[in-house]
Amino acid sequence: MIGKLNHIAVAVPDLEEATSIYRDVLGAKVSKPHELPEHGVTAVFVHLENTKIELIQPLGDQSPIDSFLKRNTKGGIHHLCYEVEDIFAAKDQLTSQGRTILGTGEPYLGANNKLVLFLHPKNFMGSLIELEQAN
Ligand code: CO
Repeated sequence: MIGKLNHIAVAVPDLEEATSIYRDVLGAKVSKPHELPEHGVTAVFVHLENTKIELIQPLGDQSPIDSFLKRNTKGGIHHLCYEVEDIFAAKDQLTSQGRTILGTGEPYLGANNKLVLFLHPKNFMGSLIELEQAN
C-alpha cells in the first residue's frame, strides 16, 4: 500500500532557530516559512535529495500540535508521511481492518495541497502516520 516516504514532520517551539539549525549547522536547503492557518501551523520545508523534513510551529490559539509540544518542550518527531496511490482505497482497506483514522475519517487537503489522512498512533507502534495521495 505505502510507497515513498514523502516527509517527516518535526514539531518545533522556535521555527527560526530550527530553520537556522538545518540551514547553517546541517547545511540543508530550506524554504521560507509558510503560514498554513487552516492547519494551525507555520511550516518550513527542508529539501533533501530523497525526501523532505517539515519543521512545524504552532500558529493561532488552537494548534493541533500544541499538546505535542506541551509533552515535548524542545520539539520532536511529530509524524511520518507515506505516499499512497489511491487514498480512498487505503482508507477503505484500513477501516475494514479496524484501524482508526483521525478526525472525520475522510481524506482532506493537506499542507501540500494533496489529499491526506492521519492514522491513530495506537495502531502503529506509537507513531502518528499521515498518508498522502501520490499524484
Ligand atoms: Co505532514
